[in-house]
Formats: sequence, C-alpha cells, structure tokens
Amino acid sequence: MKVAILISGSGSNMVALAQSMTGDHPARPCLVLSNDPDAGGLAKARAMGIPTAAVDHRPFKGDRAAFEAALLEPLQAAQPDLVALAGFMRVLTADFVRGLEGRMLNIHPSLLPKYKGLNTHARAIAAGDTEAGCTVHKVTAALDDGPILGQARVPVLPDDTPEQLAARVLPMEHQLYPLVLRRLAMGDRRPVSLP
Ligand code: GAR
Repeated sequence: MKVAILISGSGSNMVALAQSMTGDHPARPCLVLSNDPDAGGLAKARAMGIPTAAVDHRPFKGDRAAFEAALLEPLQAAQPDLVALAGFMRVLTADFVRGLEGRMLNIHPSLLPKYKGLNTHARAIAAGDTEAGCTVHKVTAALDDGPILGQARVPVLPDDTPEQLAARVLPMEHQLYPLVLRRLAMGDRRPVSLP
C-alpha cells in the first residue's frame, strides 16, 4: 500500500507516519506534498528519502479548482492507495475530495465533533473543557467531518495556555495517526481510543 502525505508546515505528524511505515508494516510513503515550498516538513521528508513535491497555492489567488488541478498532477503520478492529510491547512473542494473519497484521512487537533476549523485549543480552554485531544477521520466534503477512525484524549489543566495544551496534544497525535494507519492498512476498521 502506498501512502501520500500532504503537509503545510513542520510536518511532525508526517515524520511520525513515515517512521512507522517500516519493517512488516503493509504501507510505505510514496510522496510528501506541500502547498508551501518552504514547509519545514519537505526537508525532513527528503532527509528520510521520500519523494517530495510542492504546489504553491499563492499564485492561484483563491482559484481553488486550478490549485487542486495542479496538486493532482504529482499526486496522481505517485499513484497512492491512501492520502493522509497531516497538518495540511488548505480547505479542499467537494470535487477534489470526491475523487479520493474513502481513501483520504485527516488528523484534527480536537475531539471532533467539537471545534472544527481553527484555534481548537483556545476554544476548548475558553469553553472550560476538562479534556481535549485529537481525532483521525476519513475526509468527506464537509470540513473536519467524516467517519471517526480514532481519538486520543488529554486533560486540560487549570491555567493552560493554548500553546501548553497543543504541546500536550501533539505527542498524542504522533501516537494516534500511525496506529490508525497501521490498523487500516491491515484491514482493521474498528475505531481506536488512546490512551
Ligand atoms: C497538527 O496539530 C495537526 O493536528 C493540525 O496542524 C498541526 C500540524 O503539525 N492540523 C490542523 O489543524 C488541520 N486543520 P505538524 O505539521 O507538525 O504535523
């Protein structure tokens, strides 16, 4: 099974996924693709020997269809069985998602269905939540929606800042995403709960 990983930033989830795909793991990374040519994760992927590509979204000036057509070129060339969004910060159109329906995963830093979109940790703190976490789900046309494949929970501590909470959630993302991917690659679709 070949996995393409889409990133926008530092790519720590990409690294966790890529490092997990060794040995008897049934999947291998085939491409790391970014909408930002300067994304830190691209250099990390290159250092791991994974093919990379970047399609800068900025010249498309909001023309999502044209951007996505350009994004599809390196993606289709890599022929992935699965596409893993890992901190990919562009909203994808329904058309793009439809082409990959059932074969695209995302990790989101909240306990979905709570806090779709941005600033999830600040919103969890502002709401007085006592727990937060992250979710891996299948991507559907609706933002941060789609069947949940796994969740990991952490406590929200008194006086947490969004940064402190993010620093507690991120290591759980690095455990959850590889675990969900491995189980999916082995044909196990039962939802995962961590810890
Ligand atoms: C992660 O926390 C991920 O859950 C989040 O961006 C971060 C990327 O970090 N994704 C989203 O907010 C998607 N809407 P990384 O580049 O180090 O993996």
